[in-house]
Amino acid sequence: MMPGKDKMLITGGKPLMGEISVSGGKNTAVAVIPATLLTDEPSTIENLPDIDDVQALIEILQYLGAKTEYVPGHHLKVYPQGVNGHQVPFEFTKRLRASYYLLGALLGRGGHAEVAYPGGCDIGSRPIDQHLKGFSALGAAIEERGGIVYAKAGMLQGADIFFDMVTVGATINVMLAAARATGNTIIYNAAKEPHIVDLANFLNSMGARIKGAGTDVIRISGRQELHGTTYTVIPDQIETGTLMIAAAATRGDVTIRGCIPTHMESLTAKLLEMGVRVTENDDSIRVRPQYEQRAVNVKTQVYPGFPTDLQQPMTALLCGANGTSTVCETIFEQRFKHLDELRRMGAHIKLVDRTVLVEGVHELYGAPVVVTDLRAGAALIVAGLMAKGLTEIYETSYIDRGYERIEAKLRSLGADIRREKL
Ligand code: EPU
Repeated sequence: MMPGKDKMLITGGKPLMGEISVSGGKNTAVAVIPATLLTDEPSTIENLPDIDDVQALIEILQYLGAKTEYVPGHHLKVYPQGVNGHQVPFEFTKRLRASYYLLGALLGRGGHAEVAYPGGCDIGSRPIDQHLKGFSALGAAIEERGGIVYAKAGMLQGADIFFDMVTVGATINVMLAAARATGNTIIYNAAKEPHIVDLANFLNSMGARIKGAGTDVIRISGRQELHGTTYTVIPDQIETGTLMIAAAATRGDVTIRGCIPTHMESLTAKLLEMGVRVTENDDSIRVRPQYEQRAVNVKTQVYPGFPTDLQQPMTALLCGANGTSTVCETIFEQRFKHLDELRRMGAHIKLVDRTVLVEGVHELYGAPVVVTDLRAGAALIVAGLMAKGLTEIYETSYIDRGYERIEAKLRSLGADIRREKL
């Protein structure tokens, strides 16, 4: 969907009620799709979310020469045999951050990648120096020129890599390249997010030998050849969290099915601390109403800490809590573009350095607001559901990058939400 094509209209104040299923994980999907290039054999990925980021990656694979069969919301089959390209121009990479995974995947496939710098949400400076450091350690010559990363290696050679900070993107990118390197790679200070584990499981199902994913040391014993696979991606941790927050924000009673409750512990703990009732089963979470919600202090951290991707919707929820909350963002220094929009809706918010001070208000009210990035979009939806009156949300294409049919899902829970063409 092109920016500005439609707007979302929400008439708030209705408690969300009922049951809803979670889609497949975006941040797993965007790693696993490029990973299909690590073999010539076809692979099938099931439970992919039907979102723009997935569509953009499929178009990149096709551009590189892969054949694909995609049934949105069901499966993607990739036939990578015809891939002989190694260049991904900016017209493709500007659509999503995860286009940088083509660097690791193409290096792993053929030792050669030329990929333009990625686009994606503007949430602060997002360098990729650790990705490049990892590729260099594996023996690739790296050059950056004219907005393009040129990476070339005769034969990738396993190495020990110590990241300067915990980075999801670089951990994934090095895993992709190292899976096909000669010898052993050890990634120290690796990210531990659920999608890192899911990517490792995917690669292992292709014949890779990866151990330790989910801890901060990942060991990869490179294989010359990998084979095709059929794999089901895990449910989306952030969509689950967004729905939990939306349920709490509207004082609703919602059961979220098909999720992994252990991935949600940091959010569940915060909601319980606020006084929200949250109960977990094996693969579902129920959020129940509690009229009085207490202010809490939140600090984003790498997994298993509170995810930065839920910081913005959580801030919207805290606008309705009793007292003053603090929300400290430690991962992306400019992930605050939703604050001006929340202020238009009556939020009492102050940003001090990287910490948002949220003074709870009796009610938010609807207003026209503009989405600046994916999770800002989620925050504005939550605020719109809480608010009195009509909220008009512009630039919805950011939301479509990462949430599958979000308004249809919320409508099925009783929300008054729809889209209107501009
Ligand atoms: N960083 C560097 N150098 C690097 C890599 C990262 O300085 O080479 C810094 C970043 O600037 C940031 C921190 O390290 O301050 C963490 O960045 P990370 O690499 O973990 O983030 P990412 O790979 O850019 C992914 C997700 C984000 C999610 C973060 C954190 C994808 C495509 N993106 O980004 O998802 O917020 O991990 O969990 O998987 C979203 O879904 O809305 C989203 C932005």
